[in-house]
Amino acid sequence: MIDSQAEEIATALEAARANTLRLFDLVAREEDLRQSPGFGFRPVLWHLAHIGVFEGYWILQRVRGDQPLDALYERIFDPIATPREESKNLPARREMENYLSRVRGEVLRHLERARFDDTHPLLRRDAYAFRLILEHEQQHQETLAYLLHLLDPAKKKRPAEGMARNQVGIEPPSQVGASSPPPHDMVEIPAGEFVMGADEDAFAYDNERPAHAVLDPAFKLDCLLVSNENYARFVAEGGYERREWWSNDGWAWREREHWSHPLYWRRDGDEWLERTMFNERPLARHHPVTGVSWYEAEAYARFAGKRLPTEAEWERAASASPGRAGPRHKRRYAWGDEPPSEVRCNFDLRFWGTTPVDSFPAGTSADGCLDLTGNLWEWTSDKFSGYPGFEPFPYPEYSAEWFDEDHRVLKGGSWATTASVLRTSFRNFFRRHFRIAFAGIRCAADG
Ligand code: AVJ
Ligand code: FE
Repeated sequence: MIDSQAEEIATALEAARANTLRLFDLVAREEDLRQSPGFGFRPVLWHLAHIGVFEGYWILQRVRGDQPLDALYERIFDPIATPREESKNLPARREMENYLSRVRGEVLRHLERARFDDTHPLLRRDAYAFRLILEHEQQHQETLAYLLHLLDPAKKKRPAEGMARNQVGIEPPSQVGASSPPPHDMVEIPAGEFVMGADEDAFAYDNERPAHAVLDPAFKLDCLLVSNENYARFVAEGGYERREWWSNDGWAWREREHWSHPLYWRRDGDEWLERTMFNERPLARHHPVTGVSWYEAEAYARFAGKRLPTEAEWERAASASPGRAGPRHKRRYAWGDEPPSEVRCNFDLRFWGTTPVDSFPAGTSADGCLDLTGNLWEWTSDKFSGYPGFEPFPYPEYSAEWFDEDHRVLKGGSWATTASVLRTSFRNFFRRHFRIAFAGIRCAADG
């Protein structure tokens, strides 16, 4: 078929697969991929076959009507059918890769034939199921990066020159001073109505729909992410000892887990060290703090005399175009609709870690905030729940299963997020005590 959409999807699927496989190459010994990287998470290698099983399920079984290619795989790598403890005796990496390419071969064959019209409900809206498997793989790449980050740097090697993902030899933007600091700590955002959620025309998850108008009161938002230096002050002033900054649930977790600093920090005499993907270094003061749970984000905000932004506040600030009066276009990224690039934000594993909080003046939002898109996900105060009129599609376990008291919404994407997932309508969600996401803190205050 002459379909240029099919061609575009095929190219994107191939690029995603190359990047997935490259991630596993960071670790020299397969043994290290077969064990839990910590905190009871599934082995890194589990995700490899899971990606293939998800792809086979949606395209070959659900769209094409096939029987499972491999019943054993379908069971072990279905996160719902198989509890974590059963994810231990995994096939060899090579065997998994063979499975993945068998599935992919069939998927590409079907992509050539499929008609993206209303004949199949899963292919409506821009070949939905194909974009679903693509974004699913891309999201698992980010999860893989979280898990690989947990592994001791001695077990990993930075990709050699020329193997660096996507681009060769890109250096992070020069450190602090790359831009003049924003004139204010916080910007004031007047009350206004905006459309929350995804437009009808592009791929989006069920939880981003339906788009709906929200009337949002005036508020203030930090121009920058909370830096390591800011957070070190919180720690030094008793952040982890002073009960009054913590919620009840947060304090209980702090006690149980003995938290006394962010996940990757380590005390060395009078100094803090921080572990990154490939090394340990003195705490980089102007990088944003990460390795913090929602509870810690909340406690920090209270310490600072501020609060976390609501999800609506965050999305309104990140998608606003200049000039708040009259009908306004909703931006896809904080700077506008132009695609992400390495001068606009830190994304897609371009730099393998965070960048200083003022590195991307070209990515500034309409109101003057930096890094709303990329660098780190940002915790919001809101529980993850369905928008008015929410309907699960194509399966309740993607979103609806997690509409509960514990999950909180995160926005904006991180240094490991691929371009399409950086859209301002995308809603990430993790439990409040979850610390391994590449997430940080941006505070808000009442207007
Ligand atoms: C949206 C990142 C929370 O990793 O659990 C992957 C994405 N859903 N496979 C997750 C997802 C099914 C999801 N998050
Ligand atoms: Fe998954």
